[in-house]
Amino acid sequence: MARSHLFLLASIGLTTATDLSTLPALLKNISADIFPDLKGISQDIYAHPETSLQEFHAHDTVVDYFTTTKPGLWDVKPHVYNLPTAFQLDFVHKPAGYTGSEDEIPVVGIMAEYDALIGIGHACGHNHILLNGLAAASMARQALIALDIPGRIRILGTPDEENTGGKGLLRDAGAFDEVDMWMMAHPTSANAVQPMGARVDAQANFVGDTHADAVRTAYEALVLITDLGTTLPSGTTATPVEDVGMFAINVVSQKILLGIAGLSLQDVNATVGALLDSTYIGVNYTVAEDDEVEKGIAVTMEGPGGHASEGTKSPLRLSIETFRNLTNSGKQGISFFLPGNITATELDITISVRPRYTMDLDSLLKNVTSTITSKAKSITTDRPYPALEVLSTPGDRFINLMHDADHDSQTNWNFSTIAPAATDAGFVQDAVLDPSTKQVLSTFKAVFHPNFGICEPVAGAPCGFNHEPEFEQTAGTEYSYGRTEIVARALAQIAVELLDDKAFMREATKLVRK
Ligand SMILES: *[C@@H]1O[C@H](CO)[C@@H](O)[C@H](O)[C@H]1NC(C)=O
Ligand SMILES: *[C@@H]1O[C@H](CO)[C@@H](O)[C@H](O)[C@H]1NC(C)=O
Ligand SMILES: *[C@@H]1O[C@H](CO)[C@@H](O)[C@H](O)[C@H]1NC(C)=O
Ligand SMILES: *[C@@H]1O[C@H](CO)[C@@H](O)[C@H](O)[C@H]1NC(C)=O
Ligand SMILES: *[C@@H]1O[C@H](CO)[C@@H](O)[C@H](O)[C@H]1NC(C)=O
Ligand SMILES: *[C@@H]1O[C@H](CO)[C@@H](O)[C@H](O)[C@H]1NC(C)=O
Ligand SMILES: *[C@@H]1O[C@H](CO)[C@@H](O)[C@H](O)[C@H]1NC(C)=O
Repeated sequence: MARSHLFLLASIGLTTATDLSTLPALLKNISADIFPDLKGISQDIYAHPETSLQEFHAHDTVVDYFTTTKPGLWDVKPHVYNLPTAFQLDFVHKPAGYTGSEDEIPVVGIMAEYDALIGIGHACGHNHILLNGLAAASMARQALIALDIPGRIRILGTPDEENTGGKGLLRDAGAFDEVDMWMMAHPTSANAVQPMGARVDAQANFVGDTHADAVRTAYEALVLITDLGTTLPSGTTATPVEDVGMFAINVVSQKILLGIAGLSLQDVNATVGALLDSTYIGVNYTVAEDDEVEKGIAVTMEGPGGHASEGTKSPLRLSIETFRNLTNSGKQGISFFLPGNITATELDITISVRPRYTMDLDSLLKNVTSTITSKAKSITTDRPYPALEVLSTPGDRFINLMHDADHDSQTNWNFSTIAPAATDAGFVQDAVLDPSTKQVLSTFKAVFHPNFGICEPVAGAPCGFNHEPEFEQTAGTEYSYGRTEIVARALAQIAVELLDDKAFMREATKLVRK
């Protein structure tokens, strides 16, 4: 028996019903058999990115595979809960002679996402969340049969994580009601069992009599938001994440264009050059004459960062600081324009408002909107995403598994308190916290959601942060698929243990509101 499993048994002081000592080896064998097909599905979804509730190819590919290619393994339900691209797969194993009712058989739910980002494909790696979900559930399913353990598994295909909060829509439709324990895993640039912040997107609209007026007003608002951001508590951000004028939620701008009229190329170059210090990691810029505007200079700023959760300074930040510097310089006759779009008099900016805790959403949003309300013509907000809190069970079990040799001895796995982004899995957990201690008092459902690194640790391997175009390349590497296989096997192991061990399941779901 693996030492980590003995540790678990000792720590909860109870024995399991079944000898699970062969489970890690069994899961490896099962994985060798089933993973290649499922990886093929993931690669297909990666090659056909679909956004926001339009994931028909992904939905149909999964449904077809389990109805036509591999029929009979799962009870396949397409288009569930009034969402055309949601699906549900159910499985139950009843040992021979089992006479109890099916409802008494323990159940674990696995969530699978498959939506992409507007314009930049699978730059959040949801092709891996689908693969992880299908693989973990399929491995656990076969293990239950092999070890003759009674158990039920449900896979829920959850549309549109990014924009409308697909899991919120599913929750409203009752999709999570029957299962207390839900799991998934999200690819990113580093390994951690960590919380996710709350989120609401404020979309602000700026109008001017002229193009230059509109740009100036929008940039004045960007300066105010930037300054507000520096006053926020740790783990909380309010960051403009879009290119000015663009309106695509959740796409990180790696290339920002700012036009400056009324200054020489040399002066513009010197201004931007002096601002670009070592706090802008990987950011560069070029300056060029812009023929659209007399004496216009186009500055192109490029680089990583700009994600709401990253502490690094982005190309957009350089653009904002350039505007601030020139506006405060006292030089007369300077105006600003958007190269390639010098006629637009209405500009939109999305501000990703992300407090660490759900309870601070309203207050932070109010602070953001009141900061720019005199500049904006209108400000609208989307559906707020609740934060996702970390519970030690089954997180501690997962970390132990990742440390062992069966899971590539990944000693860099641990709990972290950093909330790197938001997730709509917060709708499923819906945690209620003590306002002062921030202890989790209760949840709607138990949700386990580790974030796993898929960047190959070798020089030159693509390693973006989620939502940057480079992460789309990361999510297509052979290495990334290998990481997902390991995580899926660990989740399958935990699923079987939860189904087999009532005390473990009770501990993992103890805060679920009855
Ligand atoms: C895994 O497969 C190998 C090779 O077929 C076999 O020897 C071994 O017994 C299997 N292990 C389990 C736990 O099924
Ligand atoms: C120009 O700006 C408008 C208004 O923001 C936007 O809808 C349009 O897509 C922009 N065009 C280009 C080429 O960027
Ligand atoms: C801008 O300034 C940098 C030095 O800071 C110089 O290397 C570069 O050639 C300049 N660009 C132009 C277009 O003058
Ligand atoms: C500038 O940054 C972009 C984005 O990171 C990168 O693709 C490009 O190669 C860089 N250009 C230079 C000249 O370093
Ligand atoms: C503009 O930036 C330069 C270089 O960082 C700085 O020395 C100067 O004080 C700034 N000017 C204003 C008005 O902010
Ligand atoms: C909003 O601003 C008020 C006043 O500055 C401050 O007390 C409060 O903590 C802010 N809210 C958040 C969530 O930062
Ligand atoms: C993991 O986290 C725990 C608790 O925060 C800490 O005690 C431990 O030292 C950490 N281990 C590693 C390897 O970082």
